[in-house]
Amino acid sequence: MSGMIEVYGSVWIECSHSVLVWWLCLCEKTLPLFSVSRIVLVESIPEGLEFNSSTTHPSIFQAWMNLMNEARSSVDIASFYWTLTNKDTHTREPTANQGEAVLNRLAELSGNLSVRIAVNTPQEKQPRHDLRLLNDSGAHIRTVNMKELTTGVLHTKFWVVDKQHIYIGSANMDWRSLTQVKELGVVVYNCSCLAADLSKIFEAYWFLGESKSIPSPWPERFSTMYNKDTPLQLPLNNTPSNVYLSSSPPSLCAAGRTPDLQSILSVMEDAESFVYIAVMNYLPTMEFSHPKRYWADIDTQLRRVAYEKRIKVRLLISCWNSTQPVMFSFLKSLASVYNPKNNLDIQVRLFVVPATPKQKEIPFARVNHNKYMVTDKIAYIGTSNWSGDYFVNTAGSALVVNQTASQSVESTVQSQLKAVFERDWNSGYSTPLTQHSNLKDFCYF
Ligand SMILES: *[C@@H]1O[C@H](CO)[C@@H](O)[C@H](O)[C@H]1NC(C)=O
Ligand SMILES: *[C@@H]1O[C@H](CO)[C@@H](O)[C@H](O)[C@H]1NC(C)=O
Ligand SMILES: *[C@@H]1O[C@H](CO)[C@@H](O)[C@H](O)[C@H]1NC(C)=O
Ligand SMILES: *[C@@H]1O[C@H](CO)[C@@H](O)[C@H](O)[C@H]1NC(C)=O
Ligand SMILES: *[C@@H]1O[C@H](CO)[C@@H](O)[C@H](O)[C@H]1NC(C)=O
Ligand SMILES: *[C@@H]1O[C@H](CO)[C@@H](O)[C@H](O)[C@H]1NC(C)=O
Ligand SMILES: *[C@@H]1O[C@H](CO)[C@@H](O)[C@H](O)[C@H]1NC(C)=O
Repeated sequence: MSGMIEVYGSVWIECSHSVLVWWLCLCEKTLPLFSVSRIVLVESIPEGLEFNSSTTHPSIFQAWMNLMNEARSSVDIASFYWTLTNKDTHTREPTANQGEAVLNRLAELSGNLSVRIAVNTPQEKQPRHDLRLLNDSGAHIRTVNMKELTTGVLHTKFWVVDKQHIYIGSANMDWRSLTQVKELGVVVYNCSCLAADLSKIFEAYWFLGESKSIPSPWPERFSTMYNKDTPLQLPLNNTPSNVYLSSSPPSLCAAGRTPDLQSILSVMEDAESFVYIAVMNYLPTMEFSHPKRYWADIDTQLRRVAYEKRIKVRLLISCWNSTQPVMFSFLKSLASVYNPKNNLDIQVRLFVVPATPKQKEIPFARVNHNKYMVTDKIAYIGTSNWSGDYFVNTAGSALVVNQTASQSVESTVQSQLKAVFERDWNSGYSTPLTQHSNLKDFCYF
């Protein structure tokens, strides 16, 4: 790493395209030994959930409010759908207050600076109050008809503020994602190179909002230099880091962009001791395809690294009212590979967010919606469920952070994410999935 520090100290390079330094991107226009880019894990912990653990992170609500307070010129948001108020969900829940505050603040900003929203084309019966309010306040909104374009949906959830700060994670633009659903995301402040790269993905959605077809190939301005083979090298929290953004489906990846599935498979491949995965849904199928199709790319990779490389694999999957029973058949199959005598170590646990009678009345809430993976080297924070559809036709994206080479005293994002996983895995909200588990007992409450 000494070569890297030398370059930091001697010259300022901003997102340089020069062949010599293209792999090195100093984010800030200042010239400190280390730049000031700051990365922060953020979480929504549903009302009433309590962990016996000191592992806590700022809330996603705080992160979004901070980002709006920082905003001076632009806010770009990629989103699946918008239901930030009680009005949208026909509820009268005090815990909708955070979502409502976000919507009001964003409406206020829409009059003063450039607010652009790319959203999946709403279905007939989906509420449109939020988008109408934002439009009336001056925001620019484009609907992306992913159904027509790829037979999928725009499922991505990220923010780019002032081409400087970014947020990416599992939370939808939904009040429940702030107080009633368990979510995980990440914010990177003061990082123009990463923000510029995420902007390219946003610009692709923005373009598709007015296009009847997907360009092939994508014009040059959408392409990137940063991917799994040539990541962006920069200091995050004073720690040398390799980072890149992946995107799905492959048809939305311009030249240079690593498709999300390739990113997941390569992170698993690169692991040397463990792969911990926390996702809401895990299915080796195309969930939404007709006729039904088997899709085992990720499943096969997990079994392979467990068998060939003796990697310890842990899957923390969500279980709630709407979980398809077939998911458990496939998870039991994966868990059946467990055999300590042969060094085969795959374990599955189900995470249940409990609900009081009153909380049960909130539709589509009380679930662990996390979508991340952490290995002994890498933190991967995404927006996709883990079934075939999300990698074949649905738009999603992920931030991959590699701080392997770090000698830093500050804790790395990888170690923070591992602590989140271990907190959840070891909590009373998780139950091991065994061949005998009767899911009715704890999932379908
Ligand atoms: C602009 O910002 C100010 C102060 O934050 C706010 O009061 C106002 O509603 C915003 N919108 C417009 C259109 O001025
Ligand atoms: C958005 O606002 C403009 C006026 O600024 C109006 O003409 C248009 O109909 C609005 N669109 C929607 C979808 O409400
Ligand atoms: C960005 O960096 C500047 C300069 O170091 C600092 O003043 C500011 O607080 C940082 N912004 C955020 C959101 O961390
Ligand atoms: C689960 O679904 C049933 C029937 O749709 C509903 O009555 C119940 O409140 C739901 N429970 C939760 C926790 O969402
Ligand atoms: C993930 O999958 C569930 C179940 O199919 C679906 O309800 C949800 O919309 C998907 N993901 C989101 C919203 O992130
Ligand atoms: C992580 O970074 C290290 C050190 O730079 C590198 O050797 C390794 O290949 C990287 N891993 C991945 C998955 O990018
Ligand atoms: C916290 O600890 C108490 C006492 O050991 C236990 O009953 C409870 O289930 C724990 N809660 C979680 C979320 O792990």
